[in-house]
Amino acid sequence: MAKNLPLQEITAVQSVILEDDKDLLLILDQTLLPNEKKYLELRKAEDVWDAIYHLKVRGAPAIGIAAAYGIYIEAKKSGTEEYEEFCKDFKKIKNYLASSRPTAVNLFWALDRMEQVIFKHKESSIELIIKALKQEADNIKQEDEKVCESIGEYVLTLLKPEWGLLTHCNAGTIATARYGTALAPIYIGNSRGYNFKVYADETRPLLQGARLTAWELQEAGIDVTLICDNMASIVMKEGKIQAVLVGCDRVAANGDAANKIGTSGVAILAKHYNIPFYVCAPTSTIDMNTKNGDDIKIEQRAGEEITEKWYEKPMAPKSVKVYNPCFDVTDNKLITAIITEKGILYPPFDKSLTELYSNK
Ligand code: MRU
Repeated sequence: MAKNLPLQEITAVQSVILEDDKDLLLILDQTLLPNEKKYLELRKAEDVWDAIYHLKVRGAPAIGIAAAYGIYIEAKKSGTEEYEEFCKDFKKIKNYLASSRPTAVNLFWALDRMEQVIFKHKESSIELIIKALKQEADNIKQEDEKVCESIGEYVLTLLKPEWGLLTHCNAGTIATARYGTALAPIYIGNSRGYNFKVYADETRPLLQGARLTAWELQEAGIDVTLICDNMASIVMKEGKIQAVLVGCDRVAANGDAANKIGTSGVAILAKHYNIPFYVCAPTSTIDMNTKNGDDIKIEQRAGEEITEKWYEKPMAPKSVKVYNPCFDVTDNKLITAIITEKGILYPPFDKSLTELYSNK
C-alpha cells in the first residue's frame, strides 16, 4: 500500500545541494545507500570529478546538475578580472569534468549550457559572470524537476491502475532533481491510488536496482519486489509485468537508447512477451548529433566491480579476465515509445525526433 504522504514529501530527498554561503556542494553519497544516508562536502572540481566517476552522484540528470555546480564553485574561486583568462580557466575545468564519465550526454549538455553563459556575458564583469553561472546551474536543477514531473504525467497516460511494472537500474528521485524519469509515473500514479506493483532488477554489478530503486520505492511505501537480473524473464512469463519503464543516458537521432548494462536484454525479453517497453528520457538526454547507437561511447569500468566490490571475499578466481561495460544500447526497434517532457514519441523515431526538434 502506498504511504499516505504527499508526493512532494515522498520525493523530497535531494542528491545535489548547493551551500553557497559555505562555498560547497553537498552530494548524497549513493554508494553508501541503503545502509547509510550521508552527504559529502565537495569543495573543488577534483571532488566533483571523483564523486561522478565513483558514482557517489549518478544518474544522467544528477550528473549534469553536479557538474554545473562544480563549474560554479570553481569559478567563484577565480582571482582574475580578465575575461580571456577566466575563459581559459573555465575551459580547463569544463574539459576536466567532462572526462569523468563518457556515456550520459546530460553531463556534456549541462557543461555546454554553462559555457554559453560565459559567451553571452562577454562584455560583463567577472563578478557578474559568476553570478550568472550560479543562476544557470540553479536553472538546470529547477528545470529538471519540472521536466521529470512532466515525463511522469505523460507516462502515466500509458499505464493502468494495479499494473505490474518492471524497471532496471535507478531512474528515480536521487538520479535527478526530483521524481526521477522512469520512477516519476510510479510516484505520481501511486499518489493517485494506482497501486502499481513494481519489480526492480537488482542491476549487476553495481546494484543500483537493489540498493537505490528498491530503497527509494520502499521508503515511499510503494509495493516493490526485488529480483535478480536473470529473473526478468520468469516474471514476464508469469504475467506479472504489464509494462517496462527505464531511464536513459543518451538517445541517438534514430531512437537507439543507451542505458544501464542489461537494459537491452530486458527490451528483447519484453518484445518476446509482447510487453510495452518505454524509455523515459528528458530532452537533455537526446543527442541529435549522435546518428545511432554505434556512435555512443560505452563506458568501461574496473573488473573489480564484478569480482569483489560488494563481497567480503573475492567472488571470482584471482586475475580472471573481466569485461565490464557499464551501459548497453537498446535498438530503437525494441522501443515502444520514448517519453520526454514534451510528449510521447512513437516509431519511426528518426522521424518523431526530427519533428520534435523542428517544432522547437
Ligand atoms: O551508472 P549509472 O548508475 O549512472 O547509470 C544510470 C542509468 O543508467 C540510469 O538509468 C540513467 O542515467 C537515467 S537516470 C534518470
